[in-house]
Amino acid sequence: MGKKIEKLVKESLKNITPYVPGKPIEELKRELKLKKIIKLASNENPLGASKKAVKVIKEKAKEIFRYPDSSGFYLKKALSEHLNVFPENIILGNGSSEVISMFIRAFTNPGDEIILPYPSFLIYRILSYENMVNPVEVPLDEDFSYNLEKMKKFITPRTKIIILCNPNNPTGTYINKYQLEKFLKEIPEDILVLSDEAYFEYVEEEDFGSCFPYIKKKNLMVTRTFSKIYGLAGLRIGYGIARKEIIEVLEKIRPPFNTTTLAQEAALAALQDQEHVKFSFINNSREKKYLFNQLGKLGIQCYPTQTNFILCRLKTKATPIIKKLEKNGIIIRGVKPFGLGDKFFRITIGKREENRYLIKNLKIFLK
Ligand SMILES: Cc1ncc(COP(=O)(O)O)c(C=O)c1O
Repeated sequence: MGKKIEKLVKESLKNITPYVPGKPIEELKRELKLKKIIKLASNENPLGASKKAVKVIKEKAKEIFRYPDSSGFYLKKALSEHLNVFPENIILGNGSSEVISMFIRAFTNPGDEIILPYPSFLIYRILSYENMVNPVEVPLDEDFSYNLEKMKKFITPRTKIIILCNPNNPTGTYINKYQLEKFLKEIPEDILVLSDEAYFEYVEEEDFGSCFPYIKKKNLMVTRTFSKIYGLAGLRIGYGIARKEIIEVLEKIRPPFNTTTLAQEAALAALQDQEHVKFSFINNSREKKYLFNQLGKLGIQCYPTQTNFILCRLKTKATPIIKKLEKNGIIIRGVKPFGLGDKFFRITIGKREENRYLIKNLKIFLK
């Protein structure tokens, strides 16, 4: 036998616990031999993708023997028109997580620090370790709202990037534009900001602070995705928006053909179907109200959210409830891996019948 793998593995990977996604539907089907499963665990669009995107995928299937257009010319053109920027301000990724990964890889050296919110999307911590960067996790306030003043206090000469997950996963909380403007004015110019706006299209609050208006003036990148409201999570496509100089750096390390033909074509069709986006937004907003109301009646605390998921807190432990729901074919997300206590869980806002079924089951289990 060769040398033990642990001895050969890159030093920076030793700290990493692999990312655990929400349980896949197929896994639960296999385990419990259930026919019908409702998945409210990974913040996908419960209404699915635009029909126009699905149609395009079928049409373009005959072309999959060819490599994709590595530059994603037509999708970048459409996005640039949609956002009113130049195609040179956009980079495509295999999901927005790949763009985040490229950004961290491109702009950090071992020993640097990245400031990020806590609890937040787990990938940031994993990517920091992978790049031998120290993740400085700054707790959100007690109600999970952002405290940018506190984040600023953690800046040191080693700080290279500040990550803002806005709105934040798993809490659903957001940064308002006044806080954001002050923060961006005050942080030193040699610090880069990464604003992960995966749930941007679901935001309802008027004072939401996107970093997008600042991309021309600041060393900053905004990432967005087709995985959430656009309903294309299975195709893996997202993008980053930044100054041309930043995009050029990331292009040096972007793997060739990182987004597939079908993903590019479907994203283009989905982007052009803003009716579906609007419909999905309206469904989410209505169902959010329904769930807040119903969960509240069950004595479950719900944190205000600007996304398509809700962070909930029970009076008792969540794990037994999560297990019971799974037995009845409902997958929700335990949030212990995020560092939240055992009383918390996260649910994706589903369709009315899915939400009703969830509530019906919760009523039984919480009796
Ligand atoms: C905050 C946040 N950013 C990024 C992503 C990843 O999205 P993508 O599918 O574009 O890689 C997610 C997915 O859950 C997320 O919650």
